[in-house]
Amino acid sequence: MSTKKINSEQGHWLLAKMGKRVLRPGGRKLTETLIQNLEITSKDSIVEFAPGMGYTAQLILNKRPLQYSGIELNEEAAQRLQQHINTPSQKIFNTSAAQTGLEQLSQTKVIGEAMLSMQVDARKSEIIQEAYRILKPEGLYGIHELGLKPENISENSKREVQQNLAKAIHVNARPLTKEEWCQLLQKEGFKIKSIQESPMDLLKLKRIIEDEGFWRTLKIMFNIFTHPKAKEKILIMKNTFKKYESHLTSFAIVAEK
Ligand SMILES: C[S@@+](CC[C@H](N)C(=O)[O-])C[C@H]1O[C@@H](n2cnc3c(N)ncnc32)[C@H](O)[C@@H]1O
Repeated sequence: MSTKKINSEQGHWLLAKMGKRVLRPGGRKLTETLIQNLEITSKDSIVEFAPGMGYTAQLILNKRPLQYSGIELNEEAAQRLQQHINTPSQKIFNTSAAQTGLEQLSQTKVIGEAMLSMQVDARKSEIIQEAYRILKPEGLYGIHELGLKPENISENSKREVQQNLAKAIHVNARPLTKEEWCQLLQKEGFKIKSIQESPMDLLKLKRIIEDEGFWRTLKIMFNIFTHPKAKEKILIMKNTFKKYESHLTSFAIVAEK
């Protein structure tokens, strides 16, 4: 699939087109917890994998880190970000998080949200290995990703959730259980420092207001109701999330090199 133009067939870009800025499963609050747990200071060189619409980038930049690098695969999204983030100490690179081109042992923190979930397992590992390679010893890697529950979910249910999610959001979403996410990080050498869980309420009205604020929510609703094709696709997404509500969740994990 081309990563040049934003493909609004994909659930996250469709929502972005409707005005949504928070595109991660645990919402703004889980992002804020993750950022708090990463303890970002003005001494940090921090890399964000997949900044997307730049929402978390702004939260990070508010902490005035020494250096910020955003690694965004999609060319159009990267170009949009570059319009606001482009100084010697704040850069956006249009490349894959699996191959950032950054120097090894050069970073103190890495953060990535809602981007590992959309990779096959081998690619997830490549991206985690890249985070490990660029981090200094004791550096922190924070992720915020789509989760599956309960821990002992059957293989059949897992497959059903993954297949139906993929159909609804037009992205090969492959969420994992808490233990599976932890094992994936540990396999590449990370130690787990903290784990937070939050419901996967991305398209519930209460969460949209929490994430986007009242006026932006009104704007998003207006956009959805005046774009019938988008509305139909978003309703399919919402119904799929509802159908698998008992199996879907989100995790924010901080791991240490
Ligand atoms: C669901 S959006 C999440 C965006 C943002 N992190 C957020 O939480 O709002 C997924 C993003 O991951 C980016 N992406 C997917 N694979 C990537 C990769 N291998 N390297 C860098 N970015 C990637 C996509 O272009 C898109 O911006």
